[in-house]
Amino acid sequence: MTPILEAHKVWKSFGSIRALRGITLDISENETVSIIGPNGAGKTTLLRILALLERPDKGWVRYRGEKVESGEKHRGEITMVFQNPAFFTGTVADNVGYGLKIRGMDKQTIRRKVREALRAVNLAGFEKRKIKALSGGEKQRVALARALCIEPRVLLLDEPTANLDPPNCERIRRVLKRIKKNITVVIASHHLGLAKTVADRVAYIHQGKLLEIGSPEQIFGKPRHRLTKLFVEGKLV
Ligand SMILES: Nc1ncnc2c1ncn2[C@@H]1O[C@H](COP(=O)(O)OP(=O)(O)OP(=O)(O)O)[C@@H](O)[C@H]1O
Ligand SMILES: [Mg+2]
Repeated sequence: MTPILEAHKVWKSFGSIRALRGITLDISENETVSIIGPNGAGKTTLLRILALLERPDKGWVRYRGEKVESGEKHRGEITMVFQNPAFFTGTVADNVGYGLKIRGMDKQTIRRKVREALRAVNLAGFEKRKIKALSGGEKQRVALARALCIEPRVLLLDEPTANLDPPNCERIRRVLKRIKKNITVVIASHHLGLAKTVADRVAYIHQGKLLEIGSPEQIFGKPRHRLTKLFVEGKLV
């Protein structure tokens, strides 16, 4: 089967910084892939490219078998949740339902979908709360609910559990476990427990290169690359 997303020999630089150096990665429909690696490895950059928010300098990205020239065309199908999500002032419901509103959905359906999405992230009843009065962890879950609301085919999550306390990490983990069957998910995270228990495959990236990709059992139990081993054992210095 054609992968839903393919990155082929992708290079990306910011001035003299080479963030990605020839990354090739195929993601199957409804697969959950976790991208792990140290700070500055290129995880967020790769995620932005897979989200079609940014173009590679070299190489290409294909979405459902088609080379991507502009991400605009696929906006409704591919959604990225940023590490520090932006909101507009107003209520949780306004923000979560915004994507549906601009698609012209009727108010009653929006209300129902917002309610379901908030329930999914364990924020049932938060509709009328003001965004600015939420905690960091609550905001992160509102951002996830907002992404889930539009029912994307591909969901890209940048550090979805950063700033969350252990119970909320666990909530996010459970949400992902529950939804992953029907959606393609790519997660960039330092949270190795999340990669271990949610991902179908784990990719280790280091200084802009994908060093290895495999099942969580293989990557965490029998890493092939020396640097992967050091990283997963917490010994990379
Ligand atoms: N917009 C930008 N301008 C300049 N340099 C950038 C930009 N975005 C990323 N970089 C650089 O590219 C490299 C990869 O960054 P990236 O954010 O992809 O890493 P990361 O793996 O997500 O790191 P972290 O674990 O800290 O989130 C880093 O050296 C970073 O400083
Ligand atoms: Mg990052």
